[in-house]
Amino acid sequence: MCGIIAYTGHRPAVPVIIQGLKSLEYRGYDSAGLAFEHSGRLHLFRASGKLQALEHKLAGGQVLHATTGIGHTRWATHGLPNETNAHPHLDVHYNLALVHNGIIENFQQLKSLLMDKGCTFRSETDTEVLVCLIAHGLEHTDSIIEALSWSMSQVQGSYAFALISRQHPGRIWAARKASPLILGAGTGENFAASDIPAFLPYTRDVVFLEDDELVEMDAGNWTVYRAHSLTPVSKQVQRIKWDVQAAQKGGYRHFMLKEILEQPKVLMDCLAGRVDRKNNTINLSELQGLPVPSRLHIVACGTSFNAGLWGKYVLEGLAGIPVNVEIASEFRYRVLVEEPGTLYVSISQSGETADTLAGQRMVRERGLPVLGLCNVVGSSVARESDRVLYTQAGPEISVASTKAMCSQLVMLYLLALYWGHAKDRIDSRTVRRAVTDLYSLPAMMEAQLPRIQTMAQKLCAQYARARSFFYLGRGINFPLALEGALKLKEISYIHAQGYAAGELKHGPIALIDNELPTFALALNNDLLGKIQSNLMEIKARNGPIIALTNPETVLDVNDRWEIPWLEDPLNSFLVLPALQLFAYEMAVYLGKDVDQPRNLAKSVTVE
Ligand code: G6P
Repeated sequence: MCGIIAYTGHRPAVPVIIQGLKSLEYRGYDSAGLAFEHSGRLHLFRASGKLQALEHKLAGGQVLHATTGIGHTRWATHGLPNETNAHPHLDVHYNLALVHNGIIENFQQLKSLLMDKGCTFRSETDTEVLVCLIAHGLEHTDSIIEALSWSMSQVQGSYAFALISRQHPGRIWAARKASPLILGAGTGENFAASDIPAFLPYTRDVVFLEDDELVEMDAGNWTVYRAHSLTPVSKQVQRIKWDVQAAQKGGYRHFMLKEILEQPKVLMDCLAGRVDRKNNTINLSELQGLPVPSRLHIVACGTSFNAGLWGKYVLEGLAGIPVNVEIASEFRYRVLVEEPGTLYVSISQSGETADTLAGQRMVRERGLPVLGLCNVVGSSVARESDRVLYTQAGPEISVASTKAMCSQLVMLYLLALYWGHAKDRIDSRTVRRAVTDLYSLPAMMEAQLPRIQTMAQKLCAQYARARSFFYLGRGINFPLALEGALKLKEISYIHAQGYAAGELKHGPIALIDNELPTFALALNNDLLGKIQSNLMEIKARNGPIIALTNPETVLDVNDRWEIPWLEDPLNSFLVLPALQLFAYEMAVYLGKDVDQPRNLAKSVTVE
């Protein structure tokens, strides 16, 4: 997964590209590069490491005249993250430069074929194979677009790319198949990028490219074609309403902290338009005409999966709908056993996660319905769903997902109430009470966050030497235990395992000793007694315990961390920021790169 940006217009291209790459760094950041055409030659700058390294290389300033160029920030899939493998890649004759996101699956076969025809390769990347393939296509035609069309018919896999040519100054070609690519249509300038913030300072008018579409553009014009037939496609320009400021740090030390502390606002935004405040009823107009499903099958990855698992508890509990929750990378390769009345739900913050998307495509190929729960408007999951519920959390930049999960939980809770009511399992009074309680949450969360953060800081200093953690929960707190462990692993690099507390005795308890702390979710609900017993088993083996709990619970633990009691499932909305802030403060305490943890990427658009 990588970020790409292409610019053609009237401004100096290099600063525009660098600026764009900064906002795409969340997609990958192990190397970066850019290329531009100037005085009939292609100029190439690349550096391993973060974008800063590339900026150092460009510091000379002699590059500022070019007005067309392409840039790339990389998250390695083929070949080490070094300068040679960094993008852009050039063809053998230095006529073409290409940046690419995704994987060319048959690159080995294509490489051998091209080598037989005399091509030599400098890098280990599939991208260089693609640019050489295009150059090879140009041996049979003068038209770049025809060579591109032919090349796209030869490659298998998922990709988005942008190309410039030494012989065609001012012109850019870009295309996508199963990787995101958006066209930014400006005045006297045009852009193509993996994500909108890359060009948002310059234009709000965007065109979402579909799979197998190819765009040719210069400063004044752009035309989209079907890649294989080269017939023009008429596309709609859409206006983006959100602000670039919203995608920036706003004075916080890290995006992750900003996004955690933003959650009260996220709760409000998420409810906006979904709840009739006057009557306290739920209004999910997106679902109008859709029958209440008799079964749900939720498919997602990472944090979105944990949200889905949480959803199972509320959907089964309130709506009485049986729910399966599955990791998308497993689901996509399993035999799909159809059951009439099943609605498939894809949950994805980015809407571009390759496995989630593949699972959803498999479902839709069978003619089965998909509901997308998505944060990014116009993303692939959203566009390829039969119905979409946007979670309205705003842009999430930090690699570790936080506020997106909060919004997913709200939406899942609303769905449970909505369907529960439609099935007459819960009456209007209950819905009204739930909605009123939901509306009281933002203020409650806002008031609690400073205390939660202070406690997280204190505990982190105490537990920072731990090499591993257990996170335990039962019932609705089990998925949250999984999420707490995931957060800690992602950003502090401390191993952590989330477990259903009752399952501990079936193996993992063997690991408990005085060096393995347990983070227990011991909230005051009807499973408290059960978790108390589990904690006693740990105590008996000298395992240190932090218990996140509510006032008045009786617990024999090393560190008691109290949050106010709210009735389930609302308790989760205070548990979640506590887990997030514990992981965040731990990573800060240990001096880790919070917003860009090693080996991770915000949106995994490759398998
Ligand atoms: C990546 C991110 C995670 C995220 C997961 C699913 O692994 O690092 O934070 O939870 O993808 O992403 P999605 O956009 O589909 O929710």
